[in-house]
Amino acid sequence: MSVLLTGGAGYIGSHTAVSMIEAGEKVVVADNLSNASYESLRRVQELTGAEIPFYQLDLRDERAMNGMFERENIESVIHFAGLKAVGESVEKPLLYYRNNLDSTLTLLEVMERYGVRNIVFSSSATVYLDGNAPFSENSPLGCACPYGWTKFMIEQILRDAAATGKLSAVLLRYFNPVGAHPSGRIGEDPSGVPANLMPYISQTASGKREKLTVFGNDYPTRDGTGERDYLHVCDLAEGHVAALRYCREHPGAEVFNLGRGQGVTVLELIEAWNRANAMTIPYVIGSRRDGDIAVSYAIADKAKALLGWEARRSVEDMCRDAWNWQKQNPNGYEL
Ligand code: NAD
Ligand code: WQD
Repeated sequence: MSVLLTGGAGYIGSHTAVSMIEAGEKVVVADNLSNASYESLRRVQELTGAEIPFYQLDLRDERAMNGMFERENIESVIHFAGLKAVGESVEKPLLYYRNNLDSTLTLLEVMERYGVRNIVFSSSATVYLDGNAPFSENSPLGCACPYGWTKFMIEQILRDAAATGKLSAVLLRYFNPVGAHPSGRIGEDPSGVPANLMPYISQTASGKREKLTVFGNDYPTRDGTGERDYLHVCDLAEGHVAALRYCREHPGAEVFNLGRGQGVTVLELIEAWNRANAMTIPYVIGSRRDGDIAVSYAIADKAKALLGWEARRSVEDMCRDAWNWQKQNPNGYEL
């Protein structure tokens, strides 16, 4: 019996593959490689010694999906596949709705056809309505971009599908995953200029970017810069192992925040990086970025109580591991 990781060649999927294999699971990966490289999976196999059946397919391709479910003995699915760039989703909303919704619907239809009942879904803290942090799973919802709405809509689709009694769904709202596997063999490999803070800091550290621009220092936070709940990607990966265990044992749909439950400002993250890696990241203060909110962090109690999961790694661990990956792979997976 195997666990299918859709989008498993990507950043979070590849780290989760390692944790799942370490937990004794067999994994199969399906990915169209639109935002990933097969090299990540080659390295996961190297790190774990496991063989991972890989299907380069688009989840919307029902024939290819049927073929995979026919060949593999799939028992559960962790559904990472999707487009995730906030800015791009504003420019190309139809691309985002088409890709993220259609791939989920096709996946669910094929799962039903093959009697696969368990799904863990990658949702996002971006579904929370601004202004109510810290967010609990019951905080009001509302999204600021099409990407976020795709997560909101897919959550609803999964709740409705689970209400029929034919599906068990766990919806994971990730906060800000950062860092890399401590080996430095797998990590985050953004294409082009990074939109997110941690990869931008990494590339500034390596000299690829001249300096970091801090987007605004006039927010109502400790030091005026944006506050987020950064979470080590390996903690997040382990959260999926716990979530899948829960999913198998609990029919219906349940939602969990996965975060550390602590807000860290942009300046605090820069300081943590400097401490962890004995360097000084050059930065300037710029204006606010459109669409940014001041504060986002989790109340993470529910995951601890019901999944038995909590993040163990520190902000310094995240910075050290991000730098280790960046140093070893200045051009990401491009060999
Ligand atoms: P990623 O882009 O590295 O991984 C997503 C993978 O899905 C990629 O490998 C891509 O090639 C694949 N994919 C996209 N559309 C596909 C399709 N139609 N068919 C097959 N494969 C397809 O992103 P990630 O950071 O690993 O994120 C994984 C999931 O977690 C995404 O759903 C994302 O929205 C969600 N998420 C990410 C973050 C974050 O900060 N990284 C935060 C919250 C939620
Ligand atoms: C963090 C902080 C910026 C870059 C995004 C998505 C969200 C989720 C995770 C998927 C903010 C500041 C950033 C820079 C900066 N993804 N910043 N200079 O915006 O919290 O979340 O990724 O679901 O949906 O919106 O993360 O890393 O972009 O920003 O000052 O060059 O760093 O203003 O305060 P964000 P981020």
